[in-house]
Amino acid sequence: MTTPLIAPSILSADFARLADAVQQVEAAGADWIHVDVMDGHFVPNLTVGPPMVEALRKVTALPLDVHLMITNPDEFIPEFAKAGADILTVHVETCPHLHRTIQAIKEQKMKAGVSLNPSTSCTTLEHILGDVDLVLVMSVNPGFGGQRFINSTLEKIRRIQTMITASTGSPHLEVDGGITIHNVASVLQAGANVLVAGSAIFGSSNMSDTIRQMRSPGQTVII
Ligand code: DX5
Ligand code: ZN
Repeated sequence: MTTPLIAPSILSADFARLADAVQQVEAAGADWIHVDVMDGHFVPNLTVGPPMVEALRKVTALPLDVHLMITNPDEFIPEFAKAGADILTVHVETCPHLHRTIQAIKEQKMKAGVSLNPSTSCTTLEHILGDVDLVLVMSVNPGFGGQRFINSTLEKIRRIQTMITASTGSPHLEVDGGITIHNVASVLQAGANVLVAGSAIFGSSNMSDTIRQMRSPGQTVII
């Protein structure tokens, strides 16, 4: 089992004190900062956009892992690059010309990620794995923090891991939604190497300890 990177999702932080929250998770050992961008169309919620990424860029040196849950990601790629995003992830469900979108992200000197909803087949990744830096598997239906992990996603993570091994690329395999210290071992065993966690980290009384437990779960917990 590889030691995963931990990417706390600021969706569960106090938005009135975001700079403090980011600096706290950075001190607690976070590897990346996960920023959830929602448009009220692709997902039933609204969050933040490029100005927030620009503001966060000034308060942390950690990579900003920006997860776009928006209908028209192509229109915003240059703006997110300018704002300082390091990794830009789009949903396959929103990209009819996925290859073009991925190239556009790379042209802006960002790492390119592709995400899929729980009900979207992993076969949608088949012809893009060699081009992306990251695959983001949603383990809840996107839109909100604090939801319950969908167990059937574990099999999907395993399958995608196998597809990655057989592909010409070596993207990160990131999992997002409902991750807690209780299911992290199963998620890692399935093949994930980047874990996004919002409520489990920001709702914890000891963030360093929670991050440490996520990085090296002591025992397998069956969920
Ligand atoms: C959900 C977001 C997630 C969310 C995770 O649409 O993409 O990043 O913040 O939150 P938790 O860890 O609480 O499920
Ligand atoms: Zn996310």
